[in-house]
Amino acid sequence: MIVTHRTVIVETDTTMAAAIATACPEGTSVVARVDAAFAQPAGSGDDVTLALVIGPSIDLDAALTATERLRRDDPRTAVILICRRLDTSTLAAALRAGVHEVLSQHALADLAHAISHAHATRSRVKRADDVPVPRRARVTTVFAAKGGVGKTTVSTSLASSLAARGEKTALVDLDVAFGDVAVTLNLFPARDISDAAMVGDSLDLTTLESMLTVHASGLKVLAAPHEPGRSELITPESVTRVIELLAATYDHVLVDTPPALDERVLAAIDTSDLALLVATLDVPALKNLRAALDTLTLIGVSPERQRVLLNRADAEVGVSLADVPAALGRPVSAILPSSRDVPGAVNRGEVLVTANPRHPFSVAIARIATDLSRADDIEFPAISTPPVAGALLRDRLRVGPWRRAAATSTAGAA
Ligand SMILES: Nc1ncnc2c1ncn2[C@@H]1O[C@H](COP(=O)(O)OP(=O)(O)OP(=O)(O)O)[C@@H](O)[C@H]1O
Ligand SMILES: [Mg+2]
Repeated sequence: MIVTHRTVIVETDTTMAAAIATACPEGTSVVARVDAAFAQPAGSGDDVTLALVIGPSIDLDAALTATERLRRDDPRTAVILICRRLDTSTLAAALRAGVHEVLSQHALADLAHAISHAHATRSRVKRADDVPVPRRARVTTVFAAKGGVGKTTVSTSLASSLAARGEKTALVDLDVAFGDVAVTLNLFPARDISDAAMVGDSLDLTTLESMLTVHASGLKVLAAPHEPGRSELITPESVTRVIELLAATYDHVLVDTPPALDERVLAAIDTSDLALLVATLDVPALKNLRAALDTLTLIGVSPERQRVLLNRADAEVGVSLADVPAALGRPVSAILPSSRDVPGAVNRGEVLVTANPRHPFSVAIARIATDLSRADDIEFPAISTPPVAGALLRDRLRVGPWRRAAATSTAGAA
């Protein structure tokens, strides 16, 4: 939904109107009567917030009566009253009537801020006929309990693969301290997730879209902050807002994460349909994966929303793939082969899945992308498990769930 901000000055004295106009946004119109402000064209079908700046020549009673009516009939209009002299009785009457802000005609320097604040607050007011926006996207957070197992490789490859087949796809880099989605995709973002977080509650899709960077595959990326210091701006609430805005219009939203279950990652997982947990075939990665799966279940992410992906599953590292499901107590949903062509493509500024779609790694990614694109519930084939070996590995992986505080304190550690 595009929100248009209109500003109208109501003032009969042309000199005063011109003085007020200097502090108003471009396109502001001037009318002589309060009623005339509502006859202005609203813009075809757009959602409009209106800031009505009522000048000192307008009769105070008429201004306050109009404000009271607006508060009742059109809560997306804000009145800013400019008085010759600011006294307490005028101020009290204005606030009672619902005036957004009262300024003296000698304090016009504060007007620009008052107008932008009026629009920002009015944008958040729901119209009576507003209906909740239905979610369109399948939202998938790619997570791992250990660094370097391939989260960014999986999220960038899957997202590019979906975008290249024409699915409207967005990828959010939530590794706010050390995010490398942009560098992996050879992108140079002008804006990033910290800019989106800074807008706060009034962030809308149009503003958010202007902060995305487009990849050659058609994928749109919301990059991690260029400066790690800006990561503090990104609250769990801003993460939820970003994902929900994208989920309303995209087919797929993917989220890449740091190797820690911090509050932002939890907010992303809460807002996601699926948590795709990545691990490699080594005991520490599997032990941490098992703890992460238990923790997610404990905090209310049902096992149906959890998927296990084994990366580099053909690597000869002593743990057999067949042992893993019993050890985890969970089926393995997907596997990816190991290939030096994966980092090789990144080093050339390419994405393997689009540069070489027939590569075994690309074929495996395409299969997962197809599963993600299905409208119904995803049913990845489970890998069968020889019970004896599985039981041995399971004993080695016996751990308690991650403690949330401990996990949070490791935020950003890569
Ligand atoms: N299937 C694969 N075959 C070969 N190399 C791979 C594969 N998957 C990932 N890699 C390589 O492993 C390294 C780590 O991968 P990646 O950056 O995706 O991990 P990560 O989990 O995102 O790491 P971090 O926790 O630091 O964010 C990269 O150099 C990547 O190219
Ligand atoms: Mg990463």
